[in-house]
This record gives sequence, structure tokens and C-alpha cells, in this order.
Amino acid sequence: MKIVNFGSLNIDHVYQVNRFVEPGETLECSRYQQLVGGKGLNQSLAIARAGAPVMHVGSIGTDGLLLQKTLADSGVDVSQLQVQPSEASGHAIIQVDAKGENCILYHGGANQTVSVPAIDGALALTRQNDIVLIQNEINNVPAIIDKAAAKNLTIVFNPAPMSTAVLNYPLEKVDYFIVNQSEAQALSQKSDIHDILTTLSARYPASKFILTLGAQGAIYQDPLQQIIVPAITTDTVDTTAAGDTFIGYFVAELSARKAIKQCLETACKAASLCVQTIGAANSIPYRRELDIV
Ligand code: ATP
Ligand code: RIB
Repeated sequence: MKIVNFGSLNIDHVYQVNRFVEPGETLECSRYQQLVGGKGLNQSLAIARAGAPVMHVGSIGTDGLLLQKTLADSGVDVSQLQVQPSEASGHAIIQVDAKGENCILYHGGANQTVSVPAIDGALALTRQNDIVLIQNEINNVPAIIDKAAAKNLTIVFNPAPMSTAVLNYPLEKVDYFIVNQSEAQALSQKSDIHDILTTLSARYPASKFILTLGAQGAIYQDPLQQIIVPAITTDTVDTTAAGDTFIGYFVAELSARKAIKQCLETACKAASLCVQTIGAANSIPYRRELDIV
């Protein structure tokens, strides 16, 4: 079973600060790094580092060749990655505070040029039982969901960053939603966790839900069961890409047909390693590193 990830690739500009800058204020940062990121790229790397086959579909500018190389070096199939000469690659401005929390400003750039022929070309390479993974940093997400559903592929959707437009996507075709607390609140328009899960399960009865809760762990719910998995307590340096690491490892385990509880536990383990290092892609662990947790 193969995973096809339709996703963003970003150049991350990471600024270490004591606290986030406020409106009208100028704040000096203590450290600056330019790193590889993007929710899509991070999730593909996590899948590959977990040991599962993954093909990445997306677009970069000519300034983003390091993004392509980073994926290829980790064993991701980049044959369906397009280079758009007229567009700059996507980028993100990321503040990381003393508690390891982040604040992200995102510019789509080339990520917003994923064409229908590129989508069709990638889906033509899929086979029955393959998994299609999508986040919300690229264009044409509704078309990807429709086309993947028409091929009976398993659709995993991480609606990040969340926007009101997502509510009009064909979400009833999604098999697995993976959402953090704020995405779940925006999707359900509820605030309490119990209300969120009840509302989403009623609205999308054929779907399964994974709600990630930061340092509290994660909850899985389908029509038959609910599984709660605690996070692994650790020193937190930077939570950037914790969600992406969790999703990549969860989907990799799912593609290997592991039991859901094991998928969740492995994902939590991998994400707990991610938060111990600053940056996105560079903080995603390899599977062999999970043995020491
Ligand atoms: P981010 O946007 O920071 O990448 P997210 O908001 O998408 O993350 P979270 O729910 O914050 O997602 O975290 C995803 C998973 O990462 C959690 O379910 C948990 O397993 C792990 N995790 C996050 N924060 C911590 C932490 N401080 N300590 C240990 N594990 C953590
Ligand atoms: O989820 C983390 C990612 O979000 C960063 O790498 C940044 O590029 C933004 O897309």
C-alpha cells in the first residue's frame, strides 16, 4: 500500500524570541535560522522516516530545489513534484517562544499552483487501497478529495491551516480527519472536546476522527470505539511540526495495517521526539530513534 501526499513545501524562516511580538512593537530575536518545512513536506518526510513508501505531489519555485532534495534524500518519490519557474516557493515566518510554542505567518507562493493535470497524473499512478493524504496549504483541495474518492482511495485530511472555505469542501468523502484542538473547534463550531466529537461524528458518520491535544496526547473516535492515548512527557524546545510528525507516523502505521491504538502510540512517540529539537523537517525523527523513548 502506497501513500500519495498532496502537500505544501516551504522555506521556513525561524526566529527565536522570549515572547511573541505584539501589534505595533519591534522585538529583537535571539536567533534566526532558515530551515526546510511546509506541512506537506514535513508529513512526507515523517512517513518516509517511519519507513513507508510515499510519493509527494506539489509545486516549488526555482528557489526551492533544496526542498526537493530534502525529500529525495529521505527516500520520498518526488517524480510528481513540479518546478514553476514563474513562482517563488512557499515560505513561512515562524516565531518560537521560550516555552517552545510557535506563531506562524504563511505565504503559499508556488504551493497555490497545483494544477488539475498534475492531480490527475499523480492519481493515475495509484492503485486500490492506496492512501491519499492532504493538508490545506495548497490549492485545489476539493478537486483532490473528489477525484481520490472517485477512485475509492482512502482519504486522510488534515485541515491545516483551517479556514472557513474548508466547511464547503466535500468533507463527507474524507475517511480520516486528523485535527488539532483549534481546527476541531473551527470545524465543529463547538469548544468542548465531547461536543466536538459528537458533532463531527453526527455530521460525517462514515468518517473516523483523530483529535490531537498537544501535551495531552490524542483521541481517536469512530462509530464503534474511542481510544485515548497520552502524550509522552518530555522537555519541549519547539512544537513546530509536532502535528506533522504525528500525522506522518500515524499514516505510515495505518498503511502497514497496524491496529489503531498502535498507530496512535507510535505517532505520539515520534511527535514527543520532534518537540525536543528546534525547526520543522530537521526535527522529525527516524524510526530507529523511537526505540530509545
Ligand atoms: P504543531 O502545529 O505545533 O505542529 P499541532 O497543533 O498540529 O502541532 P498538537 O496537538 O499540538 O498538534 O500536537 C500533535 C501531537 O504531538 C500530540 O498529539 C502529541 O502526541 C505531540 N505533542 C505535542 N506537544 C507535545 C509536548 N509538549 N510534549 C509531548 N508531546 C507533544
Ligand atoms: O506545521 C509546521 C509547518 O507549518 C511549518 O514547517 C511551516 O512551513 C508551516 O507550513
